[in-house]
Parts: sequence; C-alpha cells; structure tokens
Amino acid sequence: MKASAKAPSNIAFIKYWGKKDPKINLPENGSLAVCLDGMGTVTTVDFSDQYEADSVVIDGQTENIELGRVQKHIDLIREMAQINTSVKVISQNSFPHSSGLASSASGFAALSMAGAKAAGLDLDQKQLSILARHGSGSAARSVPDGFVEWYQGKDDQSSYAYSMFPPDYWDLAAVAVLVTKQKKDVSTTTGHSLTSSSPFYQTRLAGIPNRIEQMKQAIKERDIEKFGQILEEEVLSFTAVNLTLNPYVLYLEPATIQVMKLCQKLRDEGLQAYFTFDAGPQPVVYCLGKDVAEIAKRLGQTEGVIQTIVNHPTVGTHLTDEHLF
Ligand code: DP6
Repeated sequence: MKASAKAPSNIAFIKYWGKKDPKINLPENGSLAVCLDGMGTVTTVDFSDQYEADSVVIDGQTENIELGRVQKHIDLIREMAQINTSVKVISQNSFPHSSGLASSASGFAALSMAGAKAAGLDLDQKQLSILARHGSGSAARSVPDGFVEWYQGKDDQSSYAYSMFPPDYWDLAAVAVLVTKQKKDVSTTTGHSLTSSSPFYQTRLAGIPNRIEQMKQAIKERDIEKFGQILEEEVLSFTAVNLTLNPYVLYLEPATIQVMKLCQKLRDEGLQAYFTFDAGPQPVVYCLGKDVAEIAKRLGQTEGVIQTIVNHPTVGTHLTDEHLF
C-alpha cells in the first residue's frame, strides 16, 4: 500500500542534548520547540511485492544519504506491522539539500507517518511521536501541532511529544539563516555521545526542569522578552557544554557570531530578535511576526549570510495526497 506524509521541521527552544539510552533515543532531558512551516519534508512510502528490493531516494539522490538509519527505521515499521514486503521510498525536502538545517526531524517524522500508514498500522499521535523518536529524537517533536513539549519520559512508551498550544496561539516567527554550505564535521549523534565528558553537563541538566517551566510560562503569556532571554540563556548553556567536551566541539562560524551580535544591536534599536542554533553553525532568529520582514532584511545584509528562510508556526505531521510517485 502507498501513503504520503508531510512533516514540518522544528527548532528547539530548550535543546535535547545527551541520551540516556541511545538505542531508543531516550533523552537525558525534556525539550520544547515549535513546528515551522518554511522547512519541511514530503515522503511517499509504498510497500509492495512488485519491488524486488528496498529503494530509497532523498532529494533525488541514492548516495550520501543516511541510508543505514532509514533502513533501520523501515525495518522497525515492518516488524511492528509483521510484514516482509519490499519498500520504495521517495522523499523531498523543501529546504536546500545538505544545508545543515534541521532535516532529520522532518525527515523521520514524515517517514514514520507515511511508513506506518503504508504498512497498514493504525497509530495514534502519541504512538507516532514515539516511532518518530526512534528514527531521530527531535523527530518526536515534529509530529504534534504548533508549540510542543517532548516529555523526557522514563522508558520507551513515556517519552513522546504533545502539543502545548496550536500554531496560531502566538504570532511568533523564526528566520533560519544559512551561513555556510559545508557539511558539519561533528555529527549530532557524536555530539550527543560526548555530552557526559563536559564538567558543566550535570550543571546544565540540573537547571533544565526550571528552565522548561519558565519557558512554558513565557509562551503561555506570549512574552517575547522573557521568551528571548531564556532562549539565549539555553543555547549559551548548550554551547558552554560543547566547548568543554573532550574533545571539544566548536559548531559556530564567524557569521554565526555576527548574527548573535546583530540580535543585540536590533534589540538596542527596539526590535525584539533572539538567536538560537542547533548542533551546527546556522543560526535561527526568533521574533514576532510583525517584525519578521525587517529582521530578515537586516539578517540578509549581514556579512557571511548566504540565505534566509522565514518561518511561522505550523501544524505537525499529516497525511497528504500529493504522492511523489
Ligand atoms: C542540538 O534529534 O538530530 O538539534 O536523536 O541522534 O537523531 P538523534 O539527534 P537529533 O538531535 C537534535 C539535537 C539538537 C537539539 C534539539 O533539536 O533539541
């Protein structure tokens, strides 16, 4: 059977950094994020006896894709559905290929929903979030709508994401900024595995529950200033850990720092702009929807910035009739 799903990416406010159980992507801490409409993935999955072997194409490519991880995820879906049928998977990202902008989140969320449906599984949103988490932890957060929380959980079934607020709850916007097209040298998975080597990691973990509560309150109150302060405090704590790993990991490029400085300058001018980034050099600037055009323009004029992508909160992963084959 054939099915297609469309999934948004999500950029975390409070980061998932470190795994309690890497086999099932059980995180060391809970996290918060919002699903974003400017960077997504559409995936079509077809299980059929007409295929002699599995085939996977991502953005028109069969090589230099994370085939092993995708294959493992398809095997998990087959095991859940108790089928042995071969599969054809075609997946398309809406953002520049290998840009280093969140692709595993939307990719594994779309693959999970389309794959489960095509395999004849009937999963609810919680079960889909758990399945997506197995593919990539952050994919758990791309399943529900809008502003999401991923519960850390104690085991496989208690670690999943749910929607705290729908996408239209708050007119927040995010400008994703491309500052390099080079592939990052340290993968996110390696970063996760090194976390305990930082002397600051336990201190970071100890502060997360309180930071999550404060951040949820800021979102609830739609308080951009409070939101922004916690956002930056969080990504700087994440960076402090990364700079003190053994061996250390420096994800930032000079242009990333230019963007961090620009945010402070924009705030001095009265525009509320706040930075974050994931395990890579591409910053994401959060602001209010009313200011996003001006802020994207200023970011575009910054030295070292190649491209900007404007995003708004959006719905989570859903089935679509736009099949790719
Ligand atoms: C820094 O979900 O990409 O972006 O579970 O190994 O696939 P895997 O890791 P991934 O980690 C994301 C880490 C982060 C922070 C975040 O998105 O919360």
